[in-house]
Amino acid sequence: MGKIIGGITTSHIPAVGNALADPEKRNDPYWKRFFDGYEPVKEWLADVKPDVAIVVYNDHGLNFFLDTIPTLAIGCADQYKNADEGWALPQLEVFPGDAQLSWHLVESLVNQEFDPTMCQEMLVDHGFVVPMQLMWGHLEGWPVRAIPLAINTVQHPLPTARRLYKLGKALRNAVESYPEDIKVVVLGTGGMSHQLQGERAGLINVDFDLACMDSVINDPEWLASKSITELIENAGTEGAEIIMWLAMRGALHSNVNVVQKHYHAPISNTGAGVLVLENA
Ligand code: DHB
Ligand code: FE
Repeated sequence: MGKIIGGITTSHIPAVGNALADPEKRNDPYWKRFFDGYEPVKEWLADVKPDVAIVVYNDHGLNFFLDTIPTLAIGCADQYKNADEGWALPQLEVFPGDAQLSWHLVESLVNQEFDPTMCQEMLVDHGFVVPMQLMWGHLEGWPVRAIPLAINTVQHPLPTARRLYKLGKALRNAVESYPEDIKVVVLGTGGMSHQLQGERAGLINVDFDLACMDSVINDPEWLASKSITELIENAGTEGAEIIMWLAMRGALHSNVNVVQKHYHAPISNTGAGVLVLENA
């Protein structure tokens, strides 16, 4: 049977991808504290050794553009390539997928009244790639099969926070009904507070970010009950990406243990957070 062994949420800042390409940046004062926050995450992953990572993220105009944007899209391929959508990020080794598991997830999600767009080809952008690099980029080759699950946070109307929380619960049912013994980690990438354009460009709200982290751990209802407008008011236009954190949380049990919790602001334009939770 499939088993969800834990979840990780993280910001997916593109500047991190560029910093990772330069070994000098690891101990640079600007970056050190940020990268230090990922060491316990890498240790935990080395310990629990997941077979599969389901990566809930948002595409930023690479695979989907304003002409056609699905609210929820899932990769159903055996491999995924990344491409640069404008941040000068390098082309990385191909990411292995698991089409058989993807089709199982699709079938289960549809039966639970979620309707994903099914993508047998899918380019992945920094929302997927940067977290994968932070978790496993230091290793030779990718040690997990990855399943990209792209959520629209680009073209309004965006799906609600509560919808993402419910999606997480549906993912858990889907994984737990998979007949093969696989260990799955669910990633939710995006946020925390940031706004990249307009009058409030540069907005970071540390208090709100910390409240979101606490909520994801102890009281997901608090964040799940926020409207997209409330999220944007508090966390900026791109801060609405925080809804991805609820997909991770929904995939876990009601009681969780905190393996890692780290916050550092600013990195690039963003309040950068990372959280690792295990079922209690
Ligand atoms: C930044 C953060 C993001 O989540 C993103 O998608 C693009 C840029 C930033 O902080 O610069
Ligand atoms: Fe983003």
